Amino acid sequence: MQLSIIGCGYLGAVHAAAMAELGHTVVGVDVDAHKVAELAAGRAPFFEPGLPEILRSAVASGRLRFSTAMADASAAEVHFLAVGTPQQAGTDAADLSYVDAAFDGLIPHLAPGSLVVGKSTVPVGTAARLAGLLAERAPEASLAWNPEFLREGFAVKDTLQPDRLVYGVAGGAGDAVGRAQAATLDQVYRAAIEAGTPRIVTDYATAELVKVSANAFLATKISFINAMSDIAEATGADVTALADAIGHDARIGRRFLNAGIGFGGGCLPKDIRAFAARAEELGRGEALAFLREMDAINLRQRQRVVDAAVGALGGSAFNRRIAILGVTFKPDSDDVRDSPALDVAVQLKGLGADVIVTDPEGIENARRRHPQLAYTSSTAEALRGAELVVLATEWSEFRALDPAEASALVARPSIIDGRNVLDPARWRAAGWTYRGIGRP
Ligand code: UGA
Repeated sequence: MQLSIIGCGYLGAVHAAAMAELGHTVVGVDVDAHKVAELAAGRAPFFEPGLPEILRSAVASGRLRFSTAMADASAAEVHFLAVGTPQQAGTDAADLSYVDAAFDGLIPHLAPGSLVVGKSTVPVGTAARLAGLLAERAPEASLAWNPEFLREGFAVKDTLQPDRLVYGVAGGAGDAVGRAQAATLDQVYRAAIEAGTPRIVTDYATAELVKVSANAFLATKISFINAMSDIAEATGADVTALADAIGHDARIGRRFLNAGIGFGGGCLPKDIRAFAARAEELGRGEALAFLREMDAINLRQRQRVVDAAVGALGGSAFNRRIAILGVTFKPDSDDVRDSPALDVAVQLKGLGADVIVTDPEGIENARRRHPQLAYTSSTAEALRGAELVVLATEWSEFRALDPAEASALVARPSIIDGRNVLDPARWRAAGWTYRGIGRP
């Protein structure tokens, strides 16, 4: 099929490359000329395992190209909207200006019968509003909403082999137009459907809500275990053993029950805030008031780590050398958006600490936001002379650190395991003062 992807950020670039990998002919459109030039040269503008390979092969095959001109999308039968919906400055609501601008720019280029497919995470009600605009301005085109559930670090796999497909179609599954839209999307995702991927065809509002409620649930799971970690700390219990034990209950499940410094990234934090804000607009603020609490628990985890660091240094961080291992919001990503690791580093720096940050992929992005921090690409260099080590992102190279080798580098063998991924007994045996999050 002929596809266009409007917006070539994280979601759009991966979607474009993955759709070309499946054999479609794809044009990716973005307003950022630099990004377009990089992508057109087969270079991924961010770190994502597996993306450079499929990007290069798709560009070389001629099935994938990139452009800054919306007119280049005009030959496509299906147009995916994949622009960002960040948090609005000064409020919790989502900023829809990129969605609106992309939609507006696309309308004059829509061929009769073409399908516009929203993938961006939007407040419920957006698809119905855009469908209304389409009915006025391009009545021969139609709109569906097809939320994306990819995880950074696994984005290529999640796009090629999604665990479910959700189509929000015009009028819902029972409507003739909606059924035709679903059939078009089935063609796009034929490989996944033939592999047995579950597919849910529903109305716009449900599709929009599926996306934000999935992220709200995941955020709630993490904040739940982080709240338990606080109680564990007050009682000498071990939150890791607790998570293992409750996780054996299939109704609960062990995944996303890792206590630590908390969640960050470009999705979970802003999505739960935007969802709560949308509920308030709908007059149902109380229903999602708990998400405000999940956000507060999450932000408190960062403060707990900062407080623990100050405590570990005997009450003051001033002029004390602290090594922060990891700055991205999670491993296998170079993304530092709303990163708890970066936040902790900045807070400790603000307390006068001599902070040195290391990360396998995130340094450039972190430096751009916080040039006041010192960075090194060498873990050994970061450890050298440190009076405290904070493991803030669980990259495999930090998990695999040898406590004896590390203790030969630091000034004081004291570590805060902000992700509960190290073996406390092993580190203590090597002479370290080990502190986890909610672990004795
Ligand atoms: C998240 C969702 O997992 C995806 O399904 C969704 O498609 C995506 O947002 C999105 O909306 O686009 P992602 O932001 O890549 O994906 O990251 P996650 O893997 O969900 O991790 C989020 C944060 O939670 C990270 O900071 C991670 O360190 C933290 N986390 C995760 C924990 O603190 N504990 C856990 O047990 C799991």
